[in-house]
Amino acid sequence: MERRCDRPTAYGVPARILSRKVFITTYGCQMNVYDSDRMTDLLAAHGYARTAAAEDADLIILNTCHIREKAVEKVYSEVGRLRHLKEARAAGGRPLILAVGGCVAQAEGEEMRRRAPAIDIVFGPQTYHRLPALIAAARGGSAALDTEFPAADKFGALPKERMASGVTAFLTVQEGCDRFCTFCVVPYTRGAEASRSVAAVLAEARRLVARGAREITLLGQNVNAYRGTGRGGRRVGLGALIRELAEMPGLVRLRYTTSHPADMGDDLIAAHREVAELMPFLHLPVQSGSDRVLAAMNRRHTVADYRRTVDALRSARPDLALSSDFIVGFPGETAADFAATLALVEAIGFAQAFSFKYSARPGTPAATRSDQVPEGEKAARLQALQSLLRAQQAAFNRATCGRVVPVLFERPGRRAGQLVGRSPYLQPVHVEAAPALLGTVAPTAIEVVGANSLGGRLVEAAAPRAQTGPVDQDGRGQYR
Ligand code: SAH
Ligand code: SF4
Ligand code: F3S
Repeated sequence: MERRCDRPTAYGVPARILSRKVFITTYGCQMNVYDSDRMTDLLAAHGYARTAAAEDADLIILNTCHIREKAVEKVYSEVGRLRHLKEARAAGGRPLILAVGGCVAQAEGEEMRRRAPAIDIVFGPQTYHRLPALIAAARGGSAALDTEFPAADKFGALPKERMASGVTAFLTVQEGCDRFCTFCVVPYTRGAEASRSVAAVLAEARRLVARGAREITLLGQNVNAYRGTGRGGRRVGLGALIRELAEMPGLVRLRYTTSHPADMGDDLIAAHREVAELMPFLHLPVQSGSDRVLAAMNRRHTVADYRRTVDALRSARPDLALSSDFIVGFPGETAADFAATLALVEAIGFAQAFSFKYSARPGTPAATRSDQVPEGEKAARLQALQSLLRAQQAAFNRATCGRVVPVLFERPGRRAGQLVGRSPYLQPVHVEAAPALLGTVAPTAIEVVGANSLGGRLVEAAAPRAQTGPVDQDGRGQYR
């Protein structure tokens, strides 16, 4: 038990132990980013400050992701590297605790400590609120493993305050997934779908706004399956939650991710029509353009269903742009199936997309299929798909040129006098603008289109003209 010193800090923590440092490496999706931030909040209340230098840390946390090929091996090799640091530190009399959390930890459990005894703590995405007890156990020399799916509310056990402050923030509203796509590990690592109550989400959003957030992205592994308890104990969907949040003074932009096409209900689509704060940019993973493959993936929607949903969204919000995820080379995918994916991409037109070669994930149904697609074929298909998607993204960005778009300014740019913000479509925009504009939305004329970002100029009368730099022959500027 720590003895409290006489000088408590802002977090009510003895100043004597505030000198401890935690280094966190985050892999995977935005939900892991959110979780790492919440671990930071929790550990701050226990005397740990976050550091950007592993060498400086008393506690190192690897917050892992299990979605990609060789995910497990990569964690063990990272642990192998950190073992040397740990040994050097033990020899120097300042012990280092090594903790592995996230989806690999959840999947591997006890096996992790057997394979890599340098790991002191193994915990899952549903048990990180118990980190302080795990750390105490590890410091006392006991095994510290916790990969349960506790029934108690993790969020309720976390500190109310959020340390991270920024113009944009993530807020997890839903966790887990009941869909069991046959390629995916998430239902096994994150557990069953569960939603936070409307009151809990509103309270956290209010605190984020008080700390300067102007845009909130609502997160969930299957976020549009959100069914939270609202007023009078009524269960409400994501559309209703978005409408409530949109009323919050100071909150000017809302987004949500990631959605499943089959959970895109009428009320949520209507929210895109009615709620101006909801940005017209939606990540709606389709995975494949072949009904045969979609059925084998257990996606529970057809290509026609997806197209109908997109049509409904676009008629609700004509300026809506789409992003998506694709998997190529799912077991049994033929050349004709893949051609259907390319045809769907042509038909929809995506502003942005992520595409992956199918990777057999241990424990998932598709991994045991005997009709795996050869590696070379997967690579060729990925290349073809990515070149089409890149062309669509470039065309989308080019189409922004000459338009005036609202930009929410997030941070100072690298050049003096410049700010970086985001368009409604998440495109980074570099603009010459006064620091006072941070956290505000200003109409900006787009003048330069780079591969990864845009350059623009404030259109308000008093605004100085931005130095947008040269545009080279293929129309791409300096912001590559
Ligand atoms: N909740 C998200 C999925 C998270 S995983 C959703 O339902 O969209 C993010 C993406 O990784 C998936 O959309 C899929 O395209 C890809 N992915 C997941 N498992 C994969 C696998 N076994 N092989 C290749 N890509 C995979
Ligand atoms: Fe994975 Fe499918 Fe659930 Fe998304 S919907 S998390 S791809 S099982
Ligand atoms: Fe990865 Fe787990 Fe997210 S497997 S993608 S960190 S839910």
